[in-house]
Amino acid sequence: MYISKKISEIEHSPIRKFNRYALEAERRGVKVYRLNIGQPDVKTPGCFMEAIRSCSSDIIAYSESGGDTLLQDAMIDYFRRYDVSLTRDDIIITAGGSEALSMAFSCILDTGDNVVIAEPFYTNYRTFIAAAGGEISPITTTAETGYSYADVSLIESAINEMTRAIVCTNPGNPTGKTLSLADMELIGDIAIKHDLWLLADEVYREFTYDGSEAISFGSLERIQDRLIITDSVSKRFSACGARIGALISKNPGFMNCAMKLAQGRLSCPTLEQAGSAALYRLPASYFDTMRQEYEKRRDAGYRELSRIPGIVCSKPNGSFYIMAKLPVHDVEDFLMFLLRDFEDRGETVMFSPAKGFYMTPGLGEDEIRIACVLNAHDLERGAELIRLGLEQYLPRHSR
Ligand SMILES: Cc1ncc(COP(=O)(O)O)c(C=O)c1O
Repeated sequence: MYISKKISEIEHSPIRKFNRYALEAERRGVKVYRLNIGQPDVKTPGCFMEAIRSCSSDIIAYSESGGDTLLQDAMIDYFRRYDVSLTRDDIIITAGGSEALSMAFSCILDTGDNVVIAEPFYTNYRTFIAAAGGEISPITTTAETGYSYADVSLIESAINEMTRAIVCTNPGNPTGKTLSLADMELIGDIAIKHDLWLLADEVYREFTYDGSEAISFGSLERIQDRLIITDSVSKRFSACGARIGALISKNPGFMNCAMKLAQGRLSCPTLEQAGSAALYRLPASYFDTMRQEYEKRRDAGYRELSRIPGIVCSKPNGSFYIMAKLPVHDVEDFLMFLLRDFEDRGETVMFSPAKGFYMTPGLGEDEIRIACVLNAHDLERGAELIRLGLEQYLPRHSR
């Protein structure tokens, strides 16, 4: 049977495709430190389940396609902390940030259009963009320059007549790069100059370290008519399975178009919206605790990775990932070795190979991303296992 070219040409997620080898290792009794996926081990705040338990309806009915007003109102109050002023009309509740991204790309792209994104980027953008018929025009960034891309000539060199948007993941996944206010203003001005959408994926908003601030693109007044924000409870509240996010924009034409997609899929899960409303009402102190915890993890992971001879790694100032260049030819082959042929005291480790985070062929083959989703002690052990694995792998596979 015929399968559409646009979907068959998409690769499986590099974050998930090695999962079956991890499961096989676990079946052999090997403990696998899973540093491949952004699924934190932090407890979801209890208010989520409490809010769900206090729902008393006899029928789990559809909610409004744009979302439950309880949740929209909680988000409106939450966003005020970041000088972002929203109304219910500016928010469509979605099934995670993923559905928000998918809807956004579908609304702004026609076949052959492109969006400008700094690479390495969150690999699933490829899927959403390809499904919308679009392409990625990448801006290549490197660890050596701290993955910076807020530069006029760099960004403009990726823009062409088919470009419809600049996409900023802030703080970044997989780079951990956090934009300063000046960076954001510069990117906003480029979007204005070239009449482009600015899609700000802010699902890691509060995960900022070393004094860098959590700033939303939503606070920049002059880009409001072209700004689309995607948001999610997944990482911020460690509630990945709730599958609740939001598509936010003050552009009525865009929201009108997105609402057609929202109505087409009827609504988001009703109970999870009730739970998420309670999450968005958590006090600011919750984020301070989370920030401290993840900063501790980042420090532990970075410290241990830095002990690996020949590694190239820059300390991220946001999100909860660390990119690292290893002294190997092909990190996918090294990962297979770790999962099939290696163990240290009955333990091994899993990370994400970074090739899928790049558009430019040949880039990322010697790079990995680790997710700081385990406590500092386990993260250290995971990074140690990478080092121990390399000690066995390298003599057999010299560069
Ligand atoms: C940058 C970024 N955006 C969006 C998502 C989607 O997350 P969810 O659909 O769970 O909200 C992720 C998940 O890892 C992400 O890293």
